[in-house]
Amino acid sequence: MHYLVTGGCGFIGSHLVRALLAAGHQVTVLDDLSTGTREALPDGAVLVVGDILDQPLVTELLEDDLDGCFHLAAIPSVERCLNEWPRTSEVNVSGTIAIFEAARHIEPTIPIVYASSAAVYQSNDSQALTETMPTAPISSYGVDKWACEQYAHMAWRIYGLQTVGMRFFNVYGPGQPLDSPYSGVITKFIHALQSGGQPTIFGDGEQTRDFIYVGDVANALMAAMDLRQKTSEIYNVCRGRSVSVNQLADTLATVMGVSLDAQYKPALSGDIRYSQGDGSKLATVTQLPALTSLAEGLQQTVDVINS
Ligand code: NAD
Ligand code: UD1
Repeated sequence: MHYLVTGGCGFIGSHLVRALLAAGHQVTVLDDLSTGTREALPDGAVLVVGDILDQPLVTELLEDDLDGCFHLAAIPSVERCLNEWPRTSEVNVSGTIAIFEAARHIEPTIPIVYASSAAVYQSNDSQALTETMPTAPISSYGVDKWACEQYAHMAWRIYGLQTVGMRFFNVYGPGQPLDSPYSGVITKFIHALQSGGQPTIFGDGEQTRDFIYVGDVANALMAAMDLRQKTSEIYNVCRGRSVSVNQLADTLATVMGVSLDAQYKPALSGDIRYSQGDGSKLATVTQLPALTSLAEGLQQTVDVINS
């Protein structure tokens, strides 16, 4: 099969591209290298450097005899999206519309598997979040992803576009930039502890997250593409367990064999309080390999960063 992966030079995208190539597929990547790098892209993929907002380019790539498109290009930091609202929402929303617009003209239609997020949900401390629960995003980034889902549903109803929205919870693993202020919490904590510093915890640290290893996310994306879904669908991609940021810092310090004396700063705007997913909807329609435990995934991440 021949797949287009937007954002394939990024954290999740580069893991997905590696997995697709290992499975024998042909891969073209569209990436503007704004946060992703050429070095992250495995040998064997064709890289087109360009902007997801460039409609003629996106249309040309989608029309290149593809069997499907994985759309991951976006600006994923909740904090950065609030700091740079207009530009980030343009990339996150209009970039997705550019993919849908190109895809709706293709005959026969090809499936689009795109990255949504747990940031679309309302915080819930009593129940794991299922796809049927209310959405109520509290950050511009969450609103962007929610809008992409709404456009996907509209595009199915009006144009018959086949889409799968993957609501990733907190994805971690090797490959996020260590020195970026906008990397995920696990990468930032490892970097701080590894360089002799201490993690900064925003708020009281009792907020929870459902962390899923990046290799498991790549498997879920490929399984979702293989469904050849004929409608517009949404799936959670999570481990189904949550930990607090305080617990995470403790566990990481133990894994790394260092002592912990975290610094506390005020909570960030747009920060969800409780987040734990229920991944059973995807598990009932696909045969996914066993998910990586948090202890195992953290150890692998630390090992790769130290190597
Ligand atoms: P990332 O920043 O590592 O990757 C995004 C990639 O998109 C980068 O390679 C970047 O250069 C590229 N890109 C950005 N703007 C672009 C543009 N205008 N044109 C072309 N390419 C552009 O982020 P990631 O963590 O790998 O996230 C991938 C996707 O998954 C995003 O859609 C993100 O919103 C979503 N997501 C991530 C997480 C997470 O925990 N990391 C959780 C939920 C959803
Ligand atoms: C993350 C993803 C986002 C995704 C969402 C899904 C990143 C950068 N963002 O957002 O794309 O849609 O999960 O749930 O991967 N924290 C600290 N100290 C730090 C950094 C963070 O205490 O140095 C806290 C934050 O306040 C937050 C938690 O850790 O409560 C997680 O933060 P972060 O890793 O940035 O992810 P989310 O904002 O949950």
